[in-house]
Amino acid sequence: MISSKDLFERAKKVSPGGVHSPVRSFAGMGREPVFFKKAHGAKLWSVEGKEYIDFCQSFGPLVLGHRDPEIEAEVHEMISTAWSFGACEPYSLELAEWITSRIPWVEKLRFVSSGTEAVMSALRVARAATGKDKILKFEGCYHGHVDSLLVKAGSGLAGVAASTSAGIAKPVAETTIVCPLDDDKLLEEMFQKHASELAAVIIEPLPANYGLLIQRKEFLEKVAQLAKKNNVLLIFDEVISGFRMALGGMAEVLGITPDLVTYGKVIGGGFPVGCYGGKKELMDLVAPLGPVYQAGTLSANPVGMRAGLCTLQKMEKQNGWKLLEEKGARFEKALSPILAEKRIQFLRQGSLFWFHLKSDQPIRRLEQIPAGQKEVFNKIFLAALEAGLYLAPNAYEVGFLSLAHTDQVLDESVRILTAAVKGI
Ligand SMILES: Cc1ncc(COP(=O)(O)O)c(C=O)c1O
Repeated sequence: MISSKDLFERAKKVSPGGVHSPVRSFAGMGREPVFFKKAHGAKLWSVEGKEYIDFCQSFGPLVLGHRDPEIEAEVHEMISTAWSFGACEPYSLELAEWITSRIPWVEKLRFVSSGTEAVMSALRVARAATGKDKILKFEGCYHGHVDSLLVKAGSGLAGVAASTSAGIAKPVAETTIVCPLDDDKLLEEMFQKHASELAAVIIEPLPANYGLLIQRKEFLEKVAQLAKKNNVLLIFDEVISGFRMALGGMAEVLGITPDLVTYGKVIGGGFPVGCYGGKKELMDLVAPLGPVYQAGTLSANPVGMRAGLCTLQKMEKQNGWKLLEEKGARFEKALSPILAEKRIQFLRQGSLFWFHLKSDQPIRRLEQIPAGQKEVFNKIFLAALEAGLYLAPNAYEVGFLSLAHTDQVLDESVRILTAAVKGI
């Protein structure tokens, strides 16, 4: 019989670490990753035929769950019509009009094929618009594998970055200034020192890549105020939060208007779509109208466009954001007291959740995550996996709820996670 173990052995021979994205590996888990062959709703099936409840949901795009029937129909229809033109077509226009008619700060947009590409392009626009080179980012935010943003605070000059990946040219890393989250005073100092060189400040308004580091609204307002005052563009990276936390993402939730915004994940309904957009005068800097070159063979792929539009229309029609909040609240209410018995905190915003070891203070910065996070998470992860529940295989990844997580699925998940936690 086909097994994940055998497939992993084969995969390791042809791909680094046997995976096509490091977050899929089970590094540190002491076992091979599960290979999945099928998905539907809130469920996954492994190649061995075992069923799992899925809280990874492809790391976020599948806000309606796997293979929503209406999206499936849209995709089939599109595929039987065409699946790539490399030319103008009406499908991307429909999605672009849908978005720009609802999100006032996205006056114009450009579709790309991933969140990374969206961020990379937004930075280029910001540099072109301001004539400045540097970007301020926050420690604890992830923006894809853009060279200049795979960085942490360096040890030298205040805030000047050092790369966190091999293969990044030092001068490129040094175009980034790194600031801790949730530190108003240091933020002010960074602006004082670097504002004249800064093209943009980029932030995940709901940082969800190193756990869930929910920020104070006042801190985010300060970021926006300082950016405005210093002629620095504000980029909200809403690749996770966009169309998930609200139609207008965290910008809508917070009432803060960014100059540029990046989307990914939900916008493509599970197909490879990214997007950057913002004020007309900024977006008009992009080729062929302006001097900022950005292109893509498969950009605005019609299958992704149709899947994305159908996803967003369905979310709007049923106020999916309210439903997701209700599901999240139900899950939290059931699970929180059980986790608390083991001094584990269930942290949630909308349909994103994360467990962390209890701490005396809210966790808003990377270094505030208590030691031992990995050990405890790995135990829960492995026990839950055994019992048929799949979480993203990393202590610092959030869990994703979808509209396919019915009450019944959530109750079953609570039962599995309760047993997993009690076994620690
Ligand atoms: C906030 C954020 N920005 C950018 C990216 C990069 O997106 P992609 O993986 O589609 O390149 C991610 C991916 O997880 C993300 O979470």
